[in-house]
Amino acid sequence: MWLLSSRETGNAWTAITSAADPAAMFAELRRTEFSRLDAGNHVYLDYTGSGLYAESLVRSYAEFLTTTVLGNPHSENPSSLAATEFIERSRADVLSFFDADPAEYAVCFAANASAALRLVGEAYPFEKGSRFLLSPDNHNSVHGIREYAQRQDATVEYLEIDAELRLNQSGLSQVPSVSGAPPSLFAFASQSNFSGVKTSLDLIPQAQALGYDVVLDAAAYVPTNKLSLRGIHPDFVCVSFYKMFGFPTGVGALIVRHEALQKLRRPWFAGGTVEFASVQNRVHRLVSTVEAFEDGTPNFLSIAAIQAGLALLSDIGMDRIHAHVHDLMATMLDGMLGLRHPNGAPRLRVYGPHTMEDRGAAVAFNVLDAEGDVVYHDDVVHQAGLAHISLRGGCFCNPGAAEAAFEFEADRTMQCLQTLPPGEFSPARLSHCLGDLAVGAVRASLGMASNAADVDRLLEFLASDLKAQVPAGAVFTASGP
Ligand SMILES: Cc1ncc(COP(=O)(O)O)c(C=O)c1O
Repeated sequence: MWLLSSRETGNAWTAITSAADPAAMFAELRRTEFSRLDAGNHVYLDYTGSGLYAESLVRSYAEFLTTTVLGNPHSENPSSLAATEFIERSRADVLSFFDADPAEYAVCFAANASAALRLVGEAYPFEKGSRFLLSPDNHNSVHGIREYAQRQDATVEYLEIDAELRLNQSGLSQVPSVSGAPPSLFAFASQSNFSGVKTSLDLIPQAQALGYDVVLDAAAYVPTNKLSLRGIHPDFVCVSFYKMFGFPTGVGALIVRHEALQKLRRPWFAGGTVEFASVQNRVHRLVSTVEAFEDGTPNFLSIAAIQAGLALLSDIGMDRIHAHVHDLMATMLDGMLGLRHPNGAPRLRVYGPHTMEDRGAAVAFNVLDAEGDVVYHDDVVHQAGLAHISLRGGCFCNPGAAEAAFEFEADRTMQCLQTLPPGEFSPARLSHCLGDLAVGAVRASLGMASNAADVDRLLEFLASDLKAQVPAGAVFTASGP
């Protein structure tokens, strides 16, 4: 049957992924599974935004859809039971992929990593005296949890990051214990979606020893790093599957320890989440499993597609993907740091570490002109588009890392933010108010389909004289030379 691992089914990619030479394997994968990139002369460098799907994933999925009858899972008819079976198999595959013991962890499907984080935020039993401790270098979907914490009078506390955008070397050694205090939460990302910095997973047992429950945002980490939940035991882990293997979109997961799940207090109930609900008596009882957190009809068609994506990553091997992107990133970083204007001035300002130590395959930077002034990030992204290179510009929903990278001064920033009325905010206006400080960076990120030619094309583009303004009327098409 479709969607079992390739060892059982002989997936289209098996002959490729079984090759012993990783370089040959990645070249063949690029040629066969991601042929649309070179056919369109496209350099895709936004894998932290979204992974790209292997073409056989969508072909076999189309075959699956046209040969399988699946109905809404909340019933006992054959099509419904079949959908339920696929969902349960997908849960088991997710646990197995992350080495998570089913006796310890469960998988709750959500729309994406953000939705998974919200499930935690809205149901975590914050109260007066609770602490919500977090890194500034987090996605907004983690920062958003602070709104729930503050509403319950919990204390929100940010750790510090240094000039390399790393959490302070001392880790949590200065953080007081919260053992015996009301429930407290610590949240961090194992890989920054801004700088690519990796934060040690050792923080998890450290925080737990201090009495914190731990949220691990692994969304930017898991597409190119092996995460095993055997040796570390974060209470909550969030991922988005499209970032890992491109297809399907619309499904993420909260991987949650059973014990942690029991601490959560859902503020509402919905279809599919209850043992019973009574209108007469205005009572309800949530089911005691993760289904209590899966509102309404799960995205059953897409959830069924996860198994094949995970099988692809397993067959290639996360270690090989990691080594592949690590080597490409080393070349890219080196090349970026070496780019100079004819007057010797650097062409780029690279944020975060300038070495490959504890960094992943994403890098944020600004382009500088020969006088050292920043070329506005969107201008760079636009001009890259004209050269068929997909980059991302902005702060990547990570305001904490951005504020540190651009050296914002908190009071000045606050004054500027307050002078921009609702609806009139724009990064360019903020930049102007801040005295033309950079307010956005450009990000290049790599994934399993990346190759050395992509890196060369980017470096070649960045070595050209990029203009501060996009020529009026310039347009670029999504593909084609
Ligand atoms: C580290 C990190 N966390 C969370 C998210 C949010 O993911 P999603 O938009 O899929 O909910 C992202 C998205 O880029 C991310 O990089």
